[in-house]
Amino acid sequence: MKKVLIDCDPGIDDALALALAHGNPELEVVGVTTVGGNVELEHTTDNALRLHDFYGMDVPIARGAGRPLVREPLTAGDVHGNTGLGDVLLPEPKSKLSDQHAVDFIIDTLAAAPGEISLIAIGPLTNIALALRKEPRITEWAAEFVIMGGSYTRGNRNPAAEFNIIADPEAAAVAFGAPWRTVMVGLDLTHQARANATVRERFADLGRLETELVTPCLDFYGQHISYRDEGPAIHDACAIAYVIDPSLIQTVSARVDVETQGRFTSGMTVTDFRAPADQHNADVATTLDVDRFWTLMTGALRNVADRLPD
Ligand code: RIB
Ligand code: CA
Repeated sequence: MKKVLIDCDPGIDDALALALAHGNPELEVVGVTTVGGNVELEHTTDNALRLHDFYGMDVPIARGAGRPLVREPLTAGDVHGNTGLGDVLLPEPKSKLSDQHAVDFIIDTLAAAPGEISLIAIGPLTNIALALRKEPRITEWAAEFVIMGGSYTRGNRNPAAEFNIIADPEAAAVAFGAPWRTVMVGLDLTHQARANATVRERFADLGRLETELVTPCLDFYGQHISYRDEGPAIHDACAIAYVIDPSLIQTVSARVDVETQGRFTSGMTVTDFRAPADQHNADVATTLDVDRFWTLMTGALRNVADRLPD
């Protein structure tokens, strides 16, 4: 059983990532922190609480940064809808937020269990950067640091940049520049995880989980022009899947630097697979075992569906 702390900006694919983390028996979610990203912090945090209760989770949820370190906030309402889960509105949550700020929650949680908890970030890296600045020792305490973000080829927000990185390039530069290995599960990998019609047949008969969340969310997500051909890429779940079973994803060691100055290239994860090994700071995800990924995803969704509170 691996313990994971998930920093997220729910977001449709974040919602599926949380379902995978909660539904897979190999993981124990020890906490969820929220950050502004796909939609404003009030919505990402509200969605985290609603998803938490809908899935039947029982973990602390701590609200984090509502805006990037330096830049003006970016959002992705065109992809996730104005409130972040397409046109889905889950029941009013009963759970309450932690009194702690996400940054303090991340620091204190990792400090209390050094070497035991995998830190997974599937939104902009603002909370991670703030935690690193406040307590640099989290690089020693985190068992591993895994992100959904970046790309070593093309971005999705623009030709150079993937959303999570361009949403806060300065924070991403802090995260990649810290003395830990970042497992970068970027678009080159996540675009292999397409919830196309064949895959979605595997999600059938999941009851309320299917009818109240998965189907309407994927229908909304799949409308986006970038997904119309091959189906929506459920990016964030790939980062969770890596932590569950690293053999699902091939990685290559590399040097990754984040561009923060470029007029056209800010937010680019400049990936050098040929840098000298002693300069490498990341394990970059390249190839997904697609069938095993969907088997993992379907199994987790089934577990969540079977446990949905009435
Ligand atoms: O580029 C995809 C990433 O940006 C995903 O994490 C998605 O949820 C958005 O945050
Ligand atoms: Ca996300």
